[in-house]
Amino acid sequence: MAGTTLLDIKGVETYYGNIRALNGVDVNVNEGEIVALIGANGAGKSTLMMTIFGAPRARAGKITFSGTDITQMPTHEIARMRIAQSPEGRRIFPRMTVMENLQMGASLDNLKYYDEDVEKVFTLFPRLKERIAQRGGTLSGGEQQMLSIGRALMARPKLLLLDEPSLGLAPLIVKQIFDAIRELNRTQGLTVFLVEQNAFGALKLATRGYVMVNGNVTMSGTGKELLANPEVRAAYLEGGHH
Ligand SMILES: Nc1ncnc2c1ncn2[C@@H]1O[C@H](COP(=O)(O)OP(=O)(O)OP(=O)(O)O)[C@@H](O)[C@H]1O
Ligand SMILES: [Mg+2]
Repeated sequence: MAGTTLLDIKGVETYYGNIRALNGVDVNVNEGEIVALIGANGAGKSTLMMTIFGAPRARAGKITFSGTDITQMPTHEIARMRIAQSPEGRRIFPRMTVMENLQMGASLDNLKYYDEDVEKVFTLFPRLKERIAQRGGTLSGGEQQMLSIGRALMARPKLLLLDEPSLGLAPLIVKQIFDAIRELNRTQGLTVFLVEQNAFGALKLATRGYVMVNGNVTMSGTGKELLANPEVRAAYLEGGHH
């Protein structure tokens, strides 16, 4: 049912000690969408991603997933709602092999789908299959990103959160990662909420986008609208690919 709200973030405030990093953020993600959150370093993008999982916890506001209030839910229970993430910096297990990393992502609720799900990840990222027994820490940056996304997919998420999937990667690899996200969305209807510094790529990929400045959402619109917006262009697309 495209169009139904899957994730609804309302008036969320998050603090680190006394410092407020999110000042009442409203964001919503509908089923079947790819939504991009762009903004400068330190804007609060990762904080918003982490607040969805309750670490750090929102001090005000409300987060609803599939109609359930998850604002105060323990993090492991939030994960069981079938929200999965590839966090900033990828955070794969460096000493474990590719296969073991994927195993770590599988949820105990879905073990009967395990073989099928591993195959799906390898179809999406054939590079990982070639490196099945290699330790995570020895993979290239792009391969680690593929593994991080693959591990998140093993949880059979309804919502996939991606924090800077393109960070530090060469253009060709960025394209592969973005193509994979588009493919997951198109063929499996997977809903994706991604944070990106690569505003151009993210807004091209996204159904809708939000711009965050200093802990506030300052603009939102369709990917196309934001790409065409003069303020967005001046602040985030200057010297970009056009
Ligand atoms: N663990 C922490 N303790 C204290 N302050 C923090 C912590 N994590 C983040 N902050 C601060 O909160 C603000 C938002 O940081 P956040 O990491 O969410 O930004 P971001 O938009 O993801 O930036 P980037 O694009 O650089 O990843 C920053 O001022 C940052 O210094
Ligand atoms: Mg960040």
